[in-house]
Amino acid sequence: MRVTAVLLVLVKFCVGQDNECGVVPMTQWAGQPSLREDPLHNPVDLVIIQHSVYGACTTDEDCEKAVRGTRKYHINEEGFTDIGESFLVGGNGKVYEGAGWSLVGAHTRHYNNRSIGISFLGDFRKTLPTSEALQATKDLIYCGVSHNYLAHEYRLIGHKQVVNTESPGTKLQKEIETWSNWVENI
Ligand SMILES: *[C@@H]1O[C@H](CO)[C@@H](O)[C@H](O)[C@H]1NC(C)=O
Repeated sequence: MRVTAVLLVLVKFCVGQDNECGVVPMTQWAGQPSLREDPLHNPVDLVIIQHSVYGACTTDEDCEKAVRGTRKYHINEEGFTDIGESFLVGGNGKVYEGAGWSLVGAHTRHYNNRSIGISFLGDFRKTLPTSEALQATKDLIYCGVSHNYLAHEYRLIGHKQVVNTESPGTKLQKEIETWSNWVENI
């Protein structure tokens, strides 16, 4: 009985704390946690879908390279505190933690303190992300709701709906317009 209880606690700790929602933590891909500090009040009720244009990848190695490169660019060239997006999704179907669920990122001017920005690595004006990437994102959102990081009635939009940009790309925008909780106007 006691061994079982200890095991359950261990499983809960490992699954629940270290690898929540199957996200690759920054401690793993960057070797340190986010340098960001502003807390993002949970549950968040807005999800903004974006694309990175650069950094398309399908292998774990290339996707890690892409998120490391993005982080370096954001810190060294843009002068950001840390990588801007809340999460980044690779063509390999893995989700990489950026600012995460509970820190304010830098992805969508005027909306950073009340939204989660999820960026697909690549250019999705003419092609769709891999089905693995699309599914991983849907799973991430579902997991976010079940952990109360996201409100049950969250709304989902494309980047271009609130910023003058092509992001997340015409093709991906059309795709997310079929997803549950997508709204035309916020
Ligand atoms: C976000 O920041 C704006 C501008 O500083 C502020 O007016 C607003 O209340 C903030 N929203 C939240 C949810 O903190």
